[in-house]
Amino acid sequence: MNKSKYFSVLSAVGVALVVAVVPVQAEQAKPGSSASTGNAEVFDFFYREAVKTSFRDQGIVKKSVLDTDETNRDCSAADVAGKPLDKKRAKEIEAINLKSIKWPSDGKFVGDWKQGEALAQSGRGLTYSDDAKTPNGGNCYNCHQLDKKEISFGTIGPSLYNYGKQRGVTDVNSPASKAIIEYTWGKIWNSKAYNACSNMPRAGHMGIMTEAQVRHLVALLVDPKSAVNQ
Ligand code: HEC
Repeated sequence: MNKSKYFSVLSAVGVALVVAVVPVQAEQAKPGSSASTGNAEVFDFFYREAVKTSFRDQGIVKKSVLDTDETNRDCSAADVAGKPLDKKRAKEIEAINLKSIKWPSDGKFVGDWKQGEALAQSGRGLTYSDDAKTPNGGNCYNCHQLDKKEISFGTIGPSLYNYGKQRGVTDVNSPASKAIIEYTWGKIWNSKAYNACSNMPRAGHMGIMTEAQVRHLVALLVDPKSAVNQ
């Protein structure tokens, strides 16, 4: 079916839905009742269809990027409703994400901070103009300040300059540092385990970063020798 034909079929379906939904709404719109979801459903339907038909596979980016999980669906719905996600549901979502975190298989949380810095700088990978062999970057500077020497950084996330120092990490192998290092791994692996609707990408969970890469990023943040902690 060509596109214009597809859209006329779609419009017909839409009209049918409006015809079906509007009387229901009128019926429900009695004093004291709240009937307002009908039109939203029709618009949602059109929106999803329009997105589905206008996206295509391009290079390594497949249409499947539109398939979201329940975390994204609930957080988007809260966004659309213009209010924060219900507290109880937020806790459930954080628990689901926390359970999915892959902890380092060899128990080593801290890698090489210099490799971490290179990853934090790079926003490459996973776009239609990359090929499957382009190594993925962590893109951290896009949202965070890290090394004071780098003057180009985004501010969607808090500054992570002196991250380890401020949290008292003087020796990455000391038992006193364990909790903060584990949290740092978990946060990078799956940010939504600690903040259900975080804007931060779930680097490990979504397969953006490998275990070895997360190890280097943890080092960038916590290693007392790292540029972040000078
Ligand atoms: C699209 C923006 C964005 C990107 C990219 C991003 N972050 Fe974040 N990050 C945030 C936001 C927003 C927060 C604060 C809210 C929250 O905790 O979710 C945050 C919080 C954090 C925290 C927790 C800080 C604390 O005090 O508890 C850490 C650690 C962190 N980010 C590390 C990273 C690293 C490492 C990268 C790169 C792999 C990265 N972030 C990429 C947006 C981003």
